[in-house]
Amino acid sequence: MTRPDVVVHASGELLAAAAAARLITKLVDAQAAHGVASVVLTGGRTGIGVLEQVRRSPARDAVDWSAVDVYWGDERFLPDGDPERNETQARQALLDHVPVDPDRVHPMAPSGGKFGADADAAAAHYAEVLATTAARATDIAVPRFDVLLLGVGEEGHTASLFPDTPYVRETERTVVGVHDCPKPPPTRISLTLPAIQAASEVWLMTTGAAKAEPVAAALGGAKPVDIPAAGAHGRDRTLWLLDRTAASAVPTGG
Ligand code: 6PG
Repeated sequence: MTRPDVVVHASGELLAAAAAARLITKLVDAQAAHGVASVVLTGGRTGIGVLEQVRRSPARDAVDWSAVDVYWGDERFLPDGDPERNETQARQALLDHVPVDPDRVHPMAPSGGKFGADADAAAAHYAEVLATTAARATDIAVPRFDVLLLGVGEEGHTASLFPDTPYVRETERTVVGVHDCPKPPPTRISLTLPAIQAASEVWLMTTGAAKAEPVAAALGGAKPVDIPAAGAHGRDRTLWLLDRTAASAVPTGG
């Protein structure tokens, strides 16, 4: 398990801009190494804010967007086009503004589509998509994820994995339907910790004093069942990108 790197920025705005620059560089480097880059997106204010900064970046088109595989770490199980869907917000923030290859963009299914209201069926389908879309890097049935982005909730959730739920405890499946979520909407789809841990790099990005406690707990050795973000680590790198307030309870020295 990779020891987390912690980078603290002076403000949330600076974090979003710096994380965007870091993501652009990461995608460019991955394309230099593999020809294609793969990124797993997250929802939430911080994650979407980073995508907006990527869109605005003068370095944006250093990335060959036609050779980027886009996945989601979680999704709010809502109708297609719903403004609260992570896919909708990612498209508005970035994906509709760069020449991605539509065949390389893999959203999680909406409610009311081919799976109707069955989030578990939609999750099983996404697991199939992950298992068959691209070459694996580990024995977990997901593509090589170069960078997997995550937010952190006030009680330590990440993706749509909330504390003390069967979903954070899942060890076999790569994608699950999540029910009765404390953060609306109640029904979601989420990668599980084994799928997250198959990524090369995992970046957890969060801001604000309300996140200080779960951040400190996660970095202080909390159990993933209690603080799911504590279970989010990459094979090659685990990076926490924080603003000063979210880092305020982390013992000095990271
Ligand atoms: C979602 C996200 C969720 C989010 C965290 C942090 O669908 O809501 O995937 O995991 O990243 O709740 O959200 P903020 O960055 O808005 O605090």
